[in-house]
Amino acid sequence: MHELELNLAADYIDQSIFKDNYIFHSRSHNRENKYLAVVPRPMTYLGVEHLKLLEFPEHYFGGQILERNVTDFSPLIERKPSATFFRNDQKMTYKQLMTLLSQAFGESNSDLHTRPYPSGGGMYSGQVILYAKAIDGLDKGSYHFLPKSHKLERLNAKSEEVIEKHLFLGANEKFLDYSFFILYSIMPVFTIAKYGMRGYRLSCIEIGSMYQALIMKSEKMGLRSRVWGGFNDEQLSLTLGVDPRVVWPVVCHLVGWENKE
Ligand SMILES: Cc1cc2nc3c(=O)[nH]c(=O)nc-3n(C[C@H](O)[C@H](O)[C@H](O)COP(=O)(O)O)c2cc1C
Repeated sequence: MHELELNLAADYIDQSIFKDNYIFHSRSHNRENKYLAVVPRPMTYLGVEHLKLLEFPEHYFGGQILERNVTDFSPLIERKPSATFFRNDQKMTYKQLMTLLSQAFGESNSDLHTRPYPSGGGMYSGQVILYAKAIDGLDKGSYHFLPKSHKLERLNAKSEEVIEKHLFLGANEKFLDYSFFILYSIMPVFTIAKYGMRGYRLSCIEIGSMYQALIMKSEKMGLRSRVWGGFNDEQLSLTLGVDPRVVWPVVCHLVGWENKE
């Protein structure tokens, strides 16, 4: 984690802004020890019926509703619903995994440095931290995807049991047969050095376009996935071999073979 760019950005950063962002970000963390949590694990007093009312909404702002100008209205939804369980009768190969990661996150080898998703200021602070569970030809463990060289960097992972404890926070048997999961994380020192407080916002929204890129590419390979927010942020980062004070955890993404329909 000692790289020139990190030190350069850190030298020019406004430390008070960085600290404000760190406090703000870590307030949304799930923490295993409730006594250490700044706020308790996200909880709601809304009942199931109320939550149903709030899901999949369409909100009106009080303006005039215009008539639709197409009659045969059939939207083309390219995304499939999120995975509801994963099959374990098939293994992904290392080659398939690398193809998928390159297609979803890798940089083109032209001079334009184009990646599959945009990034505020070209900082590309979003990082792909991966746990390989069932990949033929690749040892179980955690890895960091390098988007320019299209390679994996091995990290120092703890045992699968500990990792899954912090990933799932509960039983969740139906998701246990994922092939790999990603903990998308940000290195906000770069965006904050360039854009101050606004840089944090840019880093977070980049993660949304990263998981969207992976959803689209993985479905094309017959895989299914589920974005996953219910994990212990700092503990999961640490068990994957990443320092959550430098590389801030944002959200997870489970990927595996699709359920039969
Ligand atoms: C940021 C984010 C976090 C999510 N976290 C979870 C989660 O912790 N557990 C879960 O079962 N689903 C999670 N989901 C999946 C959503 O519940 C799901 O996308 C939503 O209900 C819509 O259903 P669909 O994806 O099947 O269309 C998450 C989705 C997003 C975008």
